[in-house]
Amino acid sequence: MQTNLRGRDLIGTQDWSKEELQTALEVAAQLKRERALGIPHPLLRDRVLAMLFFFSSTRTRGSFESGMAQLGGHAEFIESRTTQIAHGDTPKEIGEILGRYNDGIAIRHVTWGEGNKYINDVAAASRVPVLNMQCDLFHPFQVLADLFTIQEKLGDPRGKTLTVSWAYASSYQKPMSAPIDLTLLATRFGMNVRLVHPPEFKLVPELVDQARENARRSGGSLELMDDFDAGFKGSDVIYAKSWGPLLVAKDDAEGTEITGRYKDWITNGRRMALASPDALFMHPLPADRNIEVTDEVIDGPHSVVYDEAENRLHVQKAVMALTMR
Ligand code: CP
Repeated sequence: MQTNLRGRDLIGTQDWSKEELQTALEVAAQLKRERALGIPHPLLRDRVLAMLFFFSSTRTRGSFESGMAQLGGHAEFIESRTTQIAHGDTPKEIGEILGRYNDGIAIRHVTWGEGNKYINDVAAASRVPVLNMQCDLFHPFQVLADLFTIQEKLGDPRGKTLTVSWAYASSYQKPMSAPIDLTLLATRFGMNVRLVHPPEFKLVPELVDQARENARRSGGSLELMDDFDAGFKGSDVIYAKSWGPLLVAKDDAEGTEITGRYKDWITNGRRMALASPDALFMHPLPADRNIEVTDEVIDGPHSVVYDEAENRLHVQKAVMALTMR
């Protein structure tokens, strides 16, 4: 099958077929090899990506900006505090106007109940591809980098156990977009996914149902659990991060109170020892160190968090090269 992704949006991994996602992963591997060999790949010379940020970022901003430069183009940083994007400019105007200035529009908008709708509204008005740099529901570039990392470290992901778990954090009510999108993606690629969380931290039910259907089609599985230790037992990949109780808390104060009931949900050496001896520890970062995960684990031999962060660069370059040509 010929895969032509020119002009396509990427808002959630479920938008693309498995073959299209596999193509992106293969191109990412090629670009990663070429960069290691010092082979330039100016596939997007003179192309410009507008990057709209309604929320802060380190990895996403840095990797998209470096990625566009490495592809011979330019990335334009537009953030909500110093521009009109958070007030006055409607999503339709953003899609129409920035679509005329640029060859792609990338957006981070994580506000619960708003971000995904905003990105879809921009996409509906845009003549150029719209790329989701994280919304309230999906974080496609993070989870593509996660799957790429799992394939690099463990080979064929089919039949491997991936524990996607909630963890306690005190910093803020983090979005649930990475665990949702990773659960959707890993079940499509035949992994046995354990989704582990306290009862108040359910993910969006329709998307969990979609992941169950993905697993049925791929020969993988999806198991819902509420016992943190049990989630580690014999697992090949531990992906434990915090998210807010966004489906049940009416405000931040209630979310903080509910979150505070589970301060013992920390990934530590004792828990990692329950996993497979060669298990990977993954986290999209930033992590609340010694609250979500101990230094011993995140800096230890199981951790692949820096390779995971690096792979953001390679998968994003692949998707930009495929969609913005
Ligand atoms: N993982 C991730 O998206 O990191 P940033 O929030 O720093 O972009």
